[in-house]
Amino acid sequence: MNREDYVDRIEAYLEGCFCEKVPQKSLLNAMRYSLLAGGKRLRPVLTQAFCEVCGGSAEDALPFAAAVEMVHTYSLIHDDLPCMDNDDYRRGRLTNHKVYGEAKAVLAGDALLTAAFWQLTSAKLSCEKIVSAVQVLSHCAGELGMVGGQVLDLEAEQRPCTEQDVYEIQSRKTGALISAACQLGVIAAGGTKEQLLAAQKYADALGLAFQIQDDILDVIGDSAKLGKATGMDGSKNTFVRLYGVEACKKMVASETERAIGALDIFENADFLRTLALSLVGRES
Ligand code: IPE
Ligand code: IPE
Ligand code: MG
Ligand code: MG
Ligand code: MG
Repeated sequence: MNREDYVDRIEAYLEGCFCEKVPQKSLLNAMRYSLLAGGKRLRPVLTQAFCEVCGGSAEDALPFAAAVEMVHTYSLIHDDLPCMDNDDYRRGRLTNHKVYGEAKAVLAGDALLTAAFWQLTSAKLSCEKIVSAVQVLSHCAGELGMVGGQVLDLEAEQRPCTEQDVYEIQSRKTGALISAACQLGVIAAGGTKEQLLAAQKYADALGLAFQIQDDILDVIGDSAKLGKATGMDGSKNTFVRLYGVEACKKMVASETERAIGALDIFENADFLRTLALSLVGRES
């Protein structure tokens, strides 16, 4: 399958989520507002592609793919709040709290996080696979993963950081969910331990390249293409702040090569190779 097919599938799946007629429809509207606002859908694409490369069907991985995208979308809603990055635009539209208010945005994020775990457990897969998926996603999303990274990111605004500090921030705030996305694909397919380790290695390098490019785009990107404002990281400790844009572009290229190197154990990983390369120099 190609990237458009993976994206179309997850879009169609997500469309079917949260359309019940209930009194708390404003909450469901707020959840759908951010979840269905487009975005690159990188994480659910990774979940489907890793499931296929390990011999499973992308269809089987859809509830897992949707779960990661729900956690990612919740992280963006909260990341944009005035108490965090205070952003007005996301995915080409006003941020959730600008439309629904802060309280509703917090709750929409909470509900998406919770719904993600409902999704995992509703997959038509074995209990063993589902338990593994719950463990991986909760580990990667929580205090040791994404949320932990967000805390380090906020705390780092108050002090200068070393390369190791910045690596710790990025590998948790961004790398962890990208790793969850890849691992969930392997788990859905019933992949081997070796395949799981390779997926983690690929994700570690890809996640690093992805966040460095995100930081580069904050400096040189076009907000219309990005769907979010640029120049927002002035107080942040990013790789760009440490090394400058040109050195960071080289880091994106070398981390991408490292990601591709992790794919050697798979028989047909052409899609995952092309995907990694397509993210180098991305503009959105
Ligand atoms: C943005 O993620 C936040 C980061 C972790 C860098 P994406 O760039 O994947 O955002 P969407 O999903 O395409 O909107
Ligand atoms: C966000 O990192 C990471 C998470 C949402 C977990 P950023 O703060 O750099 O993401 P953008 O630039 O707002 O998309
Ligand atoms: Mg942030
Ligand atoms: Mg932000
Ligand atoms: Mg950013």
